[in-house]
Amino acid sequence: MAIEVKNLFYIYGRKTPYQQTALDDVSLTIPTGSFVGLIGRTGSGKSTLVQNLNALLIPTEGEIIVDEFHIGNKKRKNKKIKQLRKHLSLVFQFPEYQLFEETVEKDVAFGLMNFGYKQNEAIELAHKALLSVGLDEKYFKRSPFELSGGERRRVAIAGILAINPDILVLDEPTAGLDVKGSKDIMSLVKQMHEDGKTIIMVTHDMDLVLRYTEQCFVLKDGKVTFGGSTNQLFDTISDDSAIEIPPLFKLAKKLKDRGAPINIENIKNAEDLIKQVNSWRKK
Ligand SMILES: Nc1ncnc2c1ncn2[C@@H]1O[C@H](COP(=O)(O)OP(=O)(O)OP(=O)(O)O)[C@@H](O)[C@H]1O
Ligand SMILES: [Mg+2]
Repeated sequence: MAIEVKNLFYIYGRKTPYQQTALDDVSLTIPTGSFVGLIGRTGSGKSTLVQNLNALLIPTEGEIIVDEFHIGNKKRKNKKIKQLRKHLSLVFQFPEYQLFEETVEKDVAFGLMNFGYKQNEAIELAHKALLSVGLDEKYFKRSPFELSGGERRRVAIAGILAINPDILVLDEPTAGLDVKGSKDIMSLVKQMHEDGKTIIMVTHDMDLVLRYTEQCFVLKDGKVTFGGSTNQLFDTISDDSAIEIPPLFKLAKKLKDRGAPINIENIKNAEDLIKQVNSWRKK
């Protein structure tokens, strides 16, 4: 098991008039090597949860076990936070706002140097990571502040890829990107999953959830209201739910309701549906 969250509470501004319970008794487990979606309305607690996973926020109550690391509300117990962040790395919601070095390569190398790499090693790894996100030599010496939003997002993701964590947590990695930018980022993430990494992705894009995730968790007002197979979620929620059923899935369901022998568990993309329809027609 990669991650176990046990009875996690997180309260912002505790004991102040602005107190806000963002996570309310959250328990969940995420297996090693899985691709998991974290969904729910705006303000439901997704970003708060992922920031607890890498100990950026410390639980108000409850605990988190990430493989050999333990995060609880007793600060002295939370040793090895640096190693934890190398094992589980978080790409923030709008990570491009966190770029601050004067060149792209230095920005990517910064995280590595923080983990003890020497400058020349760090720069070499940074170049590799930048190339893998589609940013070539022309970008290495440019200022991150001169780049487009999508390019900056790539730099931020390269910063995490360079660290090569076993668990990659992405908070809305495609928000605000165009179709190509979004596809490029997702094919990188898919590649990392195929390389054996555990992926946790927060998103409002249900097409991405259907296409890529095996399991998902739904948060509502800081509570988990669903945890299980992604396809099962879309199969059981009603049309008027706050979660939008992807159009492809709706179509598959309609065909099934009208008697087509569609195996709903296996529908992840249009090709899957076409294959099933074709083999049905041949019968
Ligand atoms: N720094 C903060 N101080 C006080 N309250 C906060 C803070 N950050 C978030 N909250 C509150 O905690 C709750 C959960 O916020 P969070 O950012 O985790 O939601 P989210 O699910 O990530 O939303 P979104 O989809 O909009 O990114 C919300 O009610 C929010 O107003
Ligand atoms: Mg958020």
